[in-house]
Amino acid sequence: MSFKVTKSAPLRAELVVPGDKSISHRAIMLGALTNGPCVITNFLEGEDCLSTMAAMRKLGVTIEHPEPGTVIVHGTKGRFTAPDSDLDCGNSGTTVRLLSGILAAQPFRTRLTGDASLSKRPMRRVITPLSQMGARLSANGERDTLPLIVDGGPLTGIRYEMPHASAQVKSALLLAGLFASGRTTVVEPAPSRDHTERMLEYFQVRPVRQGNEISIHGGQTLESRDFQVPGDISSAAFWLVAAAARPGARLHIDNVGLNPTRTGILAVLVRMGARLREIVERNEGELSGVIEIEGANLTGTVIEGEEIPNVIDEIPALAVAAALAQGTTTIRGASELRVKETDRIAAIATNLRAMGVTVTEFDDGMEIVGGARLRGARLTSFGDHRIAMAFAIAGLFAEGETLIEDVECVATSYPTFEKTLNLVRAGKPFRQIPSEERGTVGASVLRSRSENPL
Ligand code: S3P
Repeated sequence: MSFKVTKSAPLRAELVVPGDKSISHRAIMLGALTNGPCVITNFLEGEDCLSTMAAMRKLGVTIEHPEPGTVIVHGTKGRFTAPDSDLDCGNSGTTVRLLSGILAAQPFRTRLTGDASLSKRPMRRVITPLSQMGARLSANGERDTLPLIVDGGPLTGIRYEMPHASAQVKSALLLAGLFASGRTTVVEPAPSRDHTERMLEYFQVRPVRQGNEISIHGGQTLESRDFQVPGDISSAAFWLVAAAARPGARLHIDNVGLNPTRTGILAVLVRMGARLREIVERNEGELSGVIEIEGANLTGTVIEGEEIPNVIDEIPALAVAAALAQGTTTIRGASELRVKETDRIAAIATNLRAMGVTVTEFDDGMEIVGGARLRGARLTSFGDHRIAMAFAIAGLFAEGETLIEDVECVATSYPTFEKTLNLVRAGKPFRQIPSEERGTVGASVLRSRSENPL
């Protein structure tokens, strides 16, 4: 499958994006740890989250799926049964790493596998701390890679200083900590997304944050509750860039997650000169609301340091914004990009260069010289959903045709992306909001922030 894109008219749209991927994974896993049924709505029907659902079912959890976007997880208070075969985590790093925390405490052996991309990604980062807690884990691949074998058992709380900021590692340890004796403390070198902490609190378990340390006491039971997943700001990112960088564009995104550990993309776009407004309307464990944006001429910026974990999944989209901006954009301290679904630094550099952009690659980032006219090119996604979608957006700005090959991977996080892309390509204003969602807009405003006024 491929996307064929040509230069489009400025985007004018009101839309919603599918449920948040990180939160959908956690809703299934933490729902399974509760003491009863949890109805999860706006669940992301992406392949990654379906991998989590299949794995939890194999562990004996009853999960109903009465209609698309709704799942009912019947919590087992954290008691699972040994699976009769491998747990296939597909393309999903979040599935394998968070599950390893839960499995470290189970009195049985599990074997976790994944696709070719996941089978290249590092697992040492969870093996080291979970082994310190008392589990036995081994990665049987060549370089601490899948298959991962987890021999779970009784765990003891530890204090662990993470060598780099990772929400997946932090979450694995907090989930293991729920089963451990005493207290488990994770020290973060920089803040990473805090969905696990928020969802634990929502289910009535209180992790304690003190500065950059998060602690949890073992032996607590999660209380079952229904939960609505907000839209995924990482999926919204592609349309945000498409609108922000094009004078004349206007975009309204409804019911999108606005957790401050995820909204770094808004701060970066504002620094680049984007005109936008963020309106927080709901706070139900997670903050959510509206983003409105009007197109402008952007300028380059620097993205580095503590901001990196907050924008890590948005860098492919932001790199496209950088190519469209005047001046140079520098991204540093982002070596984690090399071990995502693909080596995203190399993938971005290859594709931008093919479109006529000057890019210098560093081990931990890149420098992008903005302002050149993008030319259409024949590109590949490198099997990475976010590379596929980011370069579909680049194609909307390029002279001539852009072809992105190997885009099936988009189904991991945004199965309806192509549908929205087709509406954008048609060049007419459109509205893609279910009527019940639109009714909530403006219902109550908890916080509103306008930057570079609209
Ligand atoms: C995620 C955390 C991030 C992110 C990934 C999802 C999560 O990874 O890149 O897409 O759901 O916790 P790291 O924790 O490895 O940085």
